[in-house]
Amino acid sequence: MKWTKKHIISINDFSRDEIDFVLEKSELMEKKLKDSKTSSLMNGRILANLFFEPSTRTRMSFEVAMKRLGGMTVGFDDLSVSSEVKGETIADTIRVVSDYADVVVMRHPVEGSAMLASEYCNSPVINGGDGANQHPTQTLLDLYTIKKEFGGLDGLDLCIVGDLKYGRTVHSLTSAIEKYDVKLKFISPKELKAPRQMIKSLVDRRIPVKESTKLNLRDSDVVYVTRIQKERFPDPQEYMRVKDAFIIDQRSLEALRDTAIIMHPLPRVSEISAGVDETKYARYFEQAKNGIPVRMALLCLVSGIKFW
Ligand code: CP
Repeated sequence: MKWTKKHIISINDFSRDEIDFVLEKSELMEKKLKDSKTSSLMNGRILANLFFEPSTRTRMSFEVAMKRLGGMTVGFDDLSVSSEVKGETIADTIRVVSDYADVVVMRHPVEGSAMLASEYCNSPVINGGDGANQHPTQTLLDLYTIKKEFGGLDGLDLCIVGDLKYGRTVHSLTSAIEKYDVKLKFISPKELKAPRQMIKSLVDRRIPVKESTKLNLRDSDVVYVTRIQKERFPDPQEYMRVKDAFIIDQRSLEALRDTAIIMHPLPRVSEISAGVDETKYARYFEQAKNGIPVRMALLCLVSGIKFW
């Protein structure tokens, strides 16, 4: 992969070697960050953060990442202050921002919007989440968290719980982990099962897959819990029926392997009770923290800045 000016739209665009390369460089970046050796890598460069949908972690961690690299940020996180409310198209917004910024991060509710933006942008576009489709940088930090814990992905049993239909983090993560030698268990309400295409892709790659509507965390190394995506339900009644389908509490932990970890891309609503936070299994806050070195590494890679 040629990294300089590379658009980061979907994890499907990465080979296993390319994912491993980013994870390796993220580790190096984390060391450099601890040693305070990053503050001039992106001197004078500008990141545009265009958030057409709410975000805490993705938006702020990109901003922090850019600032830790010595760069600057512009952008918006409130649709009411962007000209989209006047009817401007994504294409026109991006054409303009492309001349203002060296890197563009965009989150938008419409699937395929990041791909569209990349077609009109001379600067690299990083997809910060497009509808229920993809969230590639979340996946990279998820994999980084798993790698830090277990040294790698091969041989692990992963269990993904929650909204497998609308959850873009699940769709991205699954596209990545099918490149590794893992076993997968999906747990969801029947209305929110994983897309059939996703299951087919895993089966085609000979990844052992189980699907269940019952919460059983036995025999898992990684339990990846997701929020039920209220904002994507066409029918609010349907959301009400499934919103509390699974709640991981201290009792659920009894079934876990001693070395298992619980992850969540956050934000959480009620799917993991607060009592789990202080247990040895919880990794979701560390996972969010890992977004900083991973996004710093990516910003350097797409900007053609060699830091190793
Ligand atoms: N995980 C994640 O994408 O969080 P935000 O929606 O807060 O960015």
